[in-house]
Amino acid sequence: MHSIPVRLPDNPYEIIIAAGSLDLLGERIKSLKIGKKILVVSNPQIFAIYGDTVVNSLQNAGFEVFSHAIPAGEDYKHLESIVHLYDTALENYLERSSALLALGGGVIGDMTGFAAATWLRGINFIQLPTSLLAMVDASIGGKTGVNHPKGKNLIGAFYQPKLVYIDPNVLKTLPEREFRAGMAEVIKYGVIWDEELFLGLEAAEKLDNLANITPELLNSIITRSCQAKVDVVTQDEKEAGLRAILNYGHTIGHAIESLTGYTSVNHGEAVAIGMVAAGRLAVELGLWSQAESDRQNRLIEKTNLPTEIPQGLNIEEIIEALKSDKKVKDGTVRFVLPSGIGRAKEGYTISADKIRNLPIHTKF
Ligand SMILES: NC(=O)c1ccc[n+]([C@@H]2O[C@H](COP(=O)([O-])OP(=O)(O)OC[C@H]3O[C@@H](n4cnc5c(N)ncnc54)[C@H](O)[C@@H]3O)[C@@H](O)[C@H]2O)c1
Ligand SMILES: [Zn+2]
Repeated sequence: MHSIPVRLPDNPYEIIIAAGSLDLLGERIKSLKIGKKILVVSNPQIFAIYGDTVVNSLQNAGFEVFSHAIPAGEDYKHLESIVHLYDTALENYLERSSALLALGGGVIGDMTGFAAATWLRGINFIQLPTSLLAMVDASIGGKTGVNHPKGKNLIGAFYQPKLVYIDPNVLKTLPEREFRAGMAEVIKYGVIWDEELFLGLEAAEKLDNLANITPELLNSIITRSCQAKVDVVTQDEKEAGLRAILNYGHTIGHAIESLTGYTSVNHGEAVAIGMVAAGRLAVELGLWSQAESDRQNRLIEKTNLPTEIPQGLNIEEIIEALKSDKKVKDGTVRFVLPSGIGRAKEGYTISADKIRNLPIHTKF
């Protein structure tokens, strides 16, 4: 078992990482000294696999447990789903001391957190992330929210959980493509923050699916990634500065996601392509060595994530997308760029012309 303390001045909490510990969840929550009622929020697929274990563990620890399902997918990450969730909270007379528990990926986590932040002006919130991306990224940092028809995550609140409980064994049922999407963020932490994590990834033969990763490496991937995100967000809880380095690979990544309609290229794949592009810019500016940038790109390849911009897209479309994303100011775009393995800085302004000259369809 590994415990990472999140030392936020007003809302300190713990991240627990323990393989095979799902049935111990109830006892752990008991130690939080919250009320008796817990509403488990999940999607039908995930609840079918893990619902019984979670509910039994909570009941055995003396909790009164209710559940609420939201259909799977980003398409349901909207206010209407939150209204249905409020209805279930009301029907079961949840009180301020009760808790909402998110059992799922980032979509369920973000929505449950937003409902917890707003129901009765804030009730207890517990995260049980089930996707790699949710474990190492979405469940940490306190950002919660839903999409607006005009844009992703436009409605939301900063709201911290009382506990993040991670059982890496649940990843066994995660689809491989979702696993790789989470690995893109893991590689990101290696590049921007944690050289040792990076070296651990380099030492592995393959990273493309869970079956090729030892339990020890998986544990280190999750623990070190969580620690990296905790380090950054505790220094900058409300995104005043440092937190922006977490956007490494996300500038061009977001443009690719929106141009491909958020489907053919998923978030992690877009971030992988974005990291290759940002690495190239860093090398061109003399900030980063070609050798280190190549090492990053080899990790991305080893994970079977894409390194090139999809053939159907051209660079002018990407520059246009950056403009509409308000990332372009006076003809320049702000980037996070690395200067070593485990080192990066935010705030480099790059001209649209420099982006135009990126060799985007060639292998690195
Ligand atoms: N709050 C934050 O700081 C933050 C950070 C990054 C991303 N996000 C948000 O997270 C969301 C993406 O999260 P995601 O990648 O986890 O997507 P997701 O929640 O849609 O999960 C991906 C898919 O995997 C399935 N799944 C998850 N865990 C599983 C398991 N153990 N077994 C079988 N199937 C499983 C889900 O049902 C879903 O179909 C986006 O909405 C994004 O905006 C938030
Ligand atoms: Zn991301």
